[in-house]
Amino acid sequence: MKEIKIEINIRALRYEELDEKDRKLIDAAKEATARSYAPYSHFSVGAAALLANGVVVTGSNQENAAYPSGTCAERTTLFYANSQYPDQAVDTLAIAARSETGYLDSPIPPCGACRQVLLETEQRFHQPMRILLYSKNDIYVLEGTKDLLPLSFGGEYLKV
Ligand code: THU
Repeated sequence: MKEIKIEINIRALRYEELDEKDRKLIDAAKEATARSYAPYSHFSVGAAALLANGVVVTGSNQENAAYPSGTCAERTTLFYANSQYPDQAVDTLAIAARSETGYLDSPIPPCGACRQVLLETEQRFHQPMRILLYSKNDIYVLEGTKDLLPLSFGGEYLKV
């Protein structure tokens, strides 16, 4: 038997410890929560993507009475970014979430389906995408999807 261990690395920083560029992106993700459409969950998620050309694209979760038809903030944002700027890598993606009582005490991790889309966005542009997960306390900084979705399935398996 072989035991395989996979290590992931996350840095936890306070908002004040982030550089200005990351703080601005977090602010944009927080502002995007105000444009969420979440009449069912009352859970408002915002995301902001900083593209290689410096443009910031934001998005939020958009729910639907037919629940599975809704979309998370991360996918709204990345699909919009990729459809508007198909040749621009995503440098950093910031994510923030608010419940009815306010921003969360601990960082909100993206759902499984969104992780898969984050991975593909990264692979599409052949460069790691930094990920910032906001909370009122720690902000998690990940240097790429390898720290969010280890042991991932990607397009490389379809080529063998
Ligand atoms: N949601 C997101 O937008 N991103 C996530 O990473 C987790 C969940 C949304 C989907 C739904 O509108 C609401 O939050 C509750 O699940």
